[in-house]
Amino acid sequence: MPVAKPPVDALSEKQASVELEQLAREIAEHDQRYHAEDAPTISDAEYDAMRRRNLAIEQRFPELVREDSPSRRVGAPVSEKFDKVRHKVPMLSLDNAFSDADVIDFVARIRRYLKLDAEAPVVMTAEPKIDGLSLSLRYEGGRLVSAATRGDGQEGENVTANARAVADIPNVLAGDPPDVLEVRGEVYMTHADFLALNKRQEAEGKPTYVNPRNTAAGSLRQLDSSVTAARPLKFFAYAWGEVSQMPAQTQTGMVEAFEAFGFHTNPLMRRCESAEELLSQYRAIEERRASLGYDIDGVVYKVDDLALQQRLGFVSRSPRWAIAHKFPAEKATTILRGIDIQVGRTGALTPVARLEPVTVGGVVVTNATLHNAEEIERLGVMIGDTVTVQRAGDVIPQILGFIADKRPDDATAFVFPTTCPCELQTPVVREGIGTGVEGVVRRCSGEFACPFQRVEHLRHFVSRRAFDIDGLGEKQIEFFFNDPDLPVKSPADIFSLAARDAENLKKLKDKEGWGTVSAANLFAAIEERRTIALERMIYGLGIRHVGEQTAKTLARAYGSWGEFHDAALAVAGDDAQAREEMDALDDIGDAVIASIAHYFAEEHNRELVERLAGAVSVREAERPAGDSPFAGKTIVFTGSLERMSRDEAKAMAERLGAKVAGSVSKKTDLVVAGPGAGSKLKKAADLGVEVIDEDAWFERVGA
Ligand code: IVH
Repeated sequence: MPVAKPPVDALSEKQASVELEQLAREIAEHDQRYHAEDAPTISDAEYDAMRRRNLAIEQRFPELVREDSPSRRVGAPVSEKFDKVRHKVPMLSLDNAFSDADVIDFVARIRRYLKLDAEAPVVMTAEPKIDGLSLSLRYEGGRLVSAATRGDGQEGENVTANARAVADIPNVLAGDPPDVLEVRGEVYMTHADFLALNKRQEAEGKPTYVNPRNTAAGSLRQLDSSVTAARPLKFFAYAWGEVSQMPAQTQTGMVEAFEAFGFHTNPLMRRCESAEELLSQYRAIEERRASLGYDIDGVVYKVDDLALQQRLGFVSRSPRWAIAHKFPAEKATTILRGIDIQVGRTGALTPVARLEPVTVGGVVVTNATLHNAEEIERLGVMIGDTVTVQRAGDVIPQILGFIADKRPDDATAFVFPTTCPCELQTPVVREGIGTGVEGVVRRCSGEFACPFQRVEHLRHFVSRRAFDIDGLGEKQIEFFFNDPDLPVKSPADIFSLAARDAENLKKLKDKEGWGTVSAANLFAAIEERRTIALERMIYGLGIRHVGEQTAKTLARAYGSWGEFHDAALAVAGDDAQAREEMDALDDIGDAVIASIAHYFAEEHNRELVERLAGAVSVREAERPAGDSPFAGKTIVFTGSLERMSRDEAKAMAERLGAKVAGSVSKKTDLVVAGPGAGSKLKKAADLGVEVIDEDAWFERVGA
């Protein structure tokens, strides 16, 4: 039987303090059971009553509000609210075009890739690029079974309950949909609905929202789906993921099918037959932009024929068959208050403009990049100047110039530092690795001794495309880097945090900004990433020039951590064969190899990598199309090809799991030779490598 509590009004200060301490502890325990263990031991009503009492006591004794009070914690961090969903078909992004010339190039590129005759038209579509957030809706047997945000493109958040609350999203499809159908599109909010919502917020004394896009995103990611239901969200369907039986063979046909299934599609979509027609549709949409009633930030062009889309395929994370033609960036003027120097992961010193906050295209801007010392000189800006700022899409805002008439008398010139702003004040150098060439970028020469670079390395390590550890963001990394009790100085230290916490007297949960639940969640998130994909491991090391795509190439080529590690050490030891093998990989050239060699030649890095590899378990790379006869084979194309471009041939082979090399060696499995093939053909014959012609290639791949 719970003991009846005295009314809050009757509490003495001492009693209140004791009870607040008890409530903080108990509520944290219930949070842990509810969120982390999924096993609550009290009803929601009892839990709410505890929180209400906590609040009531705090209101009477504001000076007793504890550091770890439940009222200071605003629920669980966002990323912990929803389950993750793996997209069966990745959700990709679009490449951007910023000018007419870019669009003309895009169409020419497609024609070249497909080897189209000069007269043959390529039918394309043009439609508005909606400024909202993308959502993937999965229907089985015509019923909505799940809805996921894009996330990193591979894995999104499960927001099914919220999607059901959006009136524009059918729960049951009309007509005769395929058995499995993933419809993708954009969730957005109209200007009118956004303004009305802000009016309501204001009337209720609640904070107002910045722009419709962020509001739509926030509304969809509400833990309580009744909040989503109360927000007027809308949805346009324009793409798809998994489909058991395609209802059409063209982009326009698919969009018409979506309409028949009960979705809204954008009325401004048009079919066009040339770059000129695309551009005239772009201008027509741009003219109507202000009167549409919702935000759009450009026009998307797509190849209409799905068979051609298939042939064109993807580069990295965007399709070759589509592009987003962005509207010009928005501009505003404001005052340059100062220039700070940021030190990046590779030691590059980047000047960052601190601005008087200004709204540019609906977003408050306070910082802008100044790139490097030359850029400051080129712009001629001084601190105190009134400057023009531009913001385009998600890109970091830029400074375009200053207004000479408005320069104040006390404007000061910025002097670029010659030492790193870190406590070591290491001298700044200007040359690139191994090249001896003086570059525009100034770098701190401290490398792993420089605390800024170390923190940036750790931030990169936990970032979304690397280890992606929930709850371990930029702020938390800095916290652990400087924490005397649970220091994280090297990636491996992250994986010993929970064990060290268990042994420590000073526990994480007792530290400011942390609690029982958040500490437990963090340890769980870290544990979840102890097994990691090879490409994430390679990318996470933060080797210069080894971006996500290069990491993927390396992972696919070497297959396992052991193989990659051996190759990297061999390259660092100047082993000619290892170097040649790496050089034969797609898109990997001297700069990448020099950088991998530089990284692994450094004892500190070798040690870091060894400790990390001991703490985690690295999954072998997924071999694409593992059942194809070309999986894992190395193919060389030579001579002129007639039915496909060189790029298409290469992409085709890679889709089948093969590696495409530029030169014939002992490791080559197959040479596809067209007319005019020369020395490579001879070398293949010398080495006894199989040679086939283009027709035989198409026969083998079954195309
Ligand atoms: S097509 C394979 N069409 O833009 C690419 N995307 O920058 C499928 N977006 O993530 C996307 N309007 O969120 C496409 N009409 C439209 C779009 C559109 C907005 C968004 C979408 C995508 C992003 C890519």
